[in-house]
Amino acid sequence: MPTTLSSVFLPLLSRYATPTPALGALEPKIILKNSRSLHPVSPMYHSISLPVPLRGPLPLFSTLVPNFTIEGESTEIMEFTCEDFKVGKCKGQKLVDGVIMPLVLQPPEESKNSTNDMPSLLLALEKNNDWFKQMIIKNGAVLLRGFNLRNAEDFNDVVQTFRWDHVPYIGPALRTSVFKQIWTANEGPLSETIAFHHEMVLMKPYPEYVMFFCEVPPPEGGETPIGPSCRVAERMMEEFPEAVKEMEEKGLKYTFRVPPQTEALTFIGRSWPEFLGSPDPAEAVKKAKANADIDVEWLPDGSAHLTLAPRPLTMVFEGRKGRKVWFNLIHLMYKKEVASVTMMDGTEIPEKIVRRIEEIIEEESIQFRWEKGDVLFLDNLAVYHGRRPSLPPRKVLVATCKVASV
Ligand SMILES: [Fe+2]
Repeated sequence: MPTTLSSVFLPLLSRYATPTPALGALEPKIILKNSRSLHPVSPMYHSISLPVPLRGPLPLFSTLVPNFTIEGESTEIMEFTCEDFKVGKCKGQKLVDGVIMPLVLQPPEESKNSTNDMPSLLLALEKNNDWFKQMIIKNGAVLLRGFNLRNAEDFNDVVQTFRWDHVPYIGPALRTSVFKQIWTANEGPLSETIAFHHEMVLMKPYPEYVMFFCEVPPPEGGETPIGPSCRVAERMMEEFPEAVKEMEEKGLKYTFRVPPQTEALTFIGRSWPEFLGSPDPAEAVKKAKANADIDVEWLPDGSAHLTLAPRPLTMVFEGRKGRKVWFNLIHLMYKKEVASVTMMDGTEIPEKIVRRIEEIIEEESIQFRWEKGDVLFLDNLAVYHGRRPSLPPRKVLVATCKVASV
């Protein structure tokens, strides 16, 4: 009779777990280490949430079941035993509330065929699909490194293993379709910084997952920094409780001017026919409302004046430990030549708050540096990203998947 998780833990839980009020983010989890000793169990069960928060002598568990650790306030890194991936390291990765970001997954052993590891990678992803999705949610970011992906076709094959729906891009970034679901990430000037953001954060709907693939790593600069939005929300609530409450209650109103022709000198210079998906003004207005909840007015110079409102300051998404995330673009749209943001009733946002947002987002960010063939998976509902200025050449492709359930 094989040993299973439930046969090991349920008797223990009934002895040591007692119902208490929900502890939210501090609710502990039991995480199995080296769970091969408990086979057969699916890799997706390496981490289990307790049905009730634990009260009492937590360390006692370790004397009863040697192969587990408890994740809660501790900072111990989860260990993995998925036989199809080896956990690696990358420069810049950080512990965020006890979880490593990004989680780096490499081939289990040194590649015998260094030119193409795609078949074994695709098999491993098919086999461990549910586990892999759980790792994206748990760690916020997962990096596949060392699998020798070569191009957009390989990247598309990786993305397809998850069978997520493609979320078509709506927005100002200069992007072109490369292959099926795969697009260029942003073709604006490499010398510019792209400020931190969640992908399509002001659109409705937005994608749950964003995946990047590095075909050509930049010789210098060009990092894609990422960061945990819940940390930004929590620090802002701590520093500016009243202003955050006011902005949350009132909601936010953004405006954005979109040119009639694409302006290649800026990373947000996409023309309104491309942005809104039609060259016909009447059709564009309809699509903007239907596809992204955007109101359009026309300016005398042929530009489109977009109003995006109301939009939230923060969000709490299902399955993310009940934590608020900073889900807005205040720092990017505030008092810009082509954009603005105020509270919904027109109240201005104090400048010192905007500056603090920028600082906190920067402080919480992780500097992720590309290597050729990398694939980076982001939980777009928890992790923001940006781009540092870069020397050419740099080629990073993107896929946006699965409409977020909100
Ligand atoms: Fe982006």
